[in-house]
Amino acid sequence: MKDKKLKATASRSAKPGEASAPLDLHVIGFGVVGRGVAKALMRPGPDGRAQPFRVVAVTDRSGTVTNAAGLDLAKLVRSKDKHGDISQVEGEHHKWNGEQAVRNVRADIVVEVTPTNIVDGEPGITHIAEAMRLGKHVVTANKGPFALQFQRIAALAQRSGVMLKYGGSVCGAVPIIELVRDALVGNEVSAIRGVMNGSCNYILSRMEESGDDFDVVLAAAAKLGITETDPSQDIDGWDAASKLVILANAVMNRAITIRDVSVEGIRSVTAETIRAAKKRGKVVRLIATISRDVAEVKPVELDEGSPLAVRGTLNVAVVETDLAKDITIVGRGAGQMETASAILGDLHAVRRELAARTSGGGEHRKGLALSGIEVGAVAKKKVVTIDRDESLGAAVRVMQKKGISQLPVMSDGVCVGTISERTVLDLLVDRGAKKLEKLAIEDVMGPPLPELGASTPLVAVAKVLERRSAVLVTRGLDIVGIVTRADLLRLVSAD
Ligand SMILES: NC(=O)c1ccc[n+]([C@@H]2O[C@H](COP(=O)([O-])OP(=O)(O)OC[C@H]3O[C@@H](n4cnc5c(N)ncnc54)[C@H](OP(=O)(O)O)[C@@H]3O)[C@@H](O)[C@H]2O)c1
Repeated sequence: MKDKKLKATASRSAKPGEASAPLDLHVIGFGVVGRGVAKALMRPGPDGRAQPFRVVAVTDRSGTVTNAAGLDLAKLVRSKDKHGDISQVEGEHHKWNGEQAVRNVRADIVVEVTPTNIVDGEPGITHIAEAMRLGKHVVTANKGPFALQFQRIAALAQRSGVMLKYGGSVCGAVPIIELVRDALVGNEVSAIRGVMNGSCNYILSRMEESGDDFDVVLAAAAKLGITETDPSQDIDGWDAASKLVILANAVMNRAITIRDVSVEGIRSVTAETIRAAKKRGKVVRLIATISRDVAEVKPVELDEGSPLAVRGTLNVAVVETDLAKDITIVGRGAGQMETASAILGDLHAVRRELAARTSGGGEHRKGLALSGIEVGAVAKKKVVTIDRDESLGAAVRVMQKKGISQLPVMSDGVCVGTISERTVLDLLVDRGAKKLEKLAIEDVMGPPLPELGASTPLVAVAKVLERRSAVLVTRGLDIVGIVTRADLLRLVSAD
């Protein structure tokens, strides 16, 4: 039984990091952007060959379709475009919602593209957090979770040892986060100012060209599909504010949430305001500004020749730095393929980092086995399991006392699954405290953790941990420890 489990894990885990091995994706949300990602993945990869990713599951509000060998992307897009659902696609169809799907689907990366919700961040927060707790990397364009809880989500990514990428959530195709983090690294960024909502920019520049009132132009923009059915998030400034919060946290070290942003939209901008500005050689734009002491979104008068005075649905940002001085970046802030472009960039970034991790730390420690680094010393403090006949209350107490978010569940000395803190808390709320054994195992638990003997070389452990959040370490029939990715990274870097 144990041998079989090991073999199955080994055959899959030998692949990530190798140039030819595809990474498995679970796409949650198959609307405009989800389908854009599917279309982008049908194009050749950077080396002219097929993209090194395989979509093994797609979830929308109707449920989840899975195929471990890879779903047919063209059929998926056709089915959703034509019938509005994913029922026509070959694969296994499940009634799982997003959270259940995250737990049940075996994938390397979750691509989270459900609607942005800046009231409570759901369902995105749950999908993203659960995926990371289970050791999956996350790529998303969803602004809601970050507008509300950036720091908490980033901390969870770090604790879970996974990568979290959200380039598509700020200004669509415009790679502003990468620009500041990579190309401008070493600069001190004093401020970022920009047009971060294409719909507002379209309305304001159209008002300027036509002389029409706000309501007239808004109605025309809605007809063209430039604004959402409910345009308030855009025109009241909240969409731009969400992006500003992400930039503030991601590249300016400012731990703010959307509640800290002073927000004024464009409803009060009249045709007369714009005409008067024009006479003075000025234009009006909705400008988002983040600096050390400012976080605001409001309509601002700019010189006609200002780099921020872009027209139509374009986005623009001016990054003010000490070494490079001002850098301006312009592009499309939304749109199906534009946002898919950002997601594809993030997927490739995850792949590159995984490849670097596999070839870097592992190789020089090839000869070292888990036993060689004294599992007892490193992992014993984490040898915490719970029996199936314990109560949910006991499970949550154990997790909180030990500061861990996942527990292996044992039955007669065999690990039969893992349960997360989030699941236990949800079940306690939904159903009142019950014993673990009374709950259907597939309802509650993720798949059992892989088991590796204490003499397994570290490099092999690293490969298994590319796919799973933790491994159980066994000696004979006994489980003697748990090693997580964070443990392994600590061990490798301590060398
Ligand atoms: N569109 C853009 O240009 C753009 C640009 C940048 C960022 N974004 C962000 O990208 C995300 C997706 O945008 P979009 O335009 O693709 O939205 P969309 O067209 O409304 O699609 C949303 C998708 O999420 C699914 N969904 C909704 N609730 C769900 C739930 N509880 N569980 C599972 N699936 C659920 C929907 O399912 P059904 O199909 O069954 O309804 C739909 O497939 C948003 O967060 C948005 O802010 C969009």
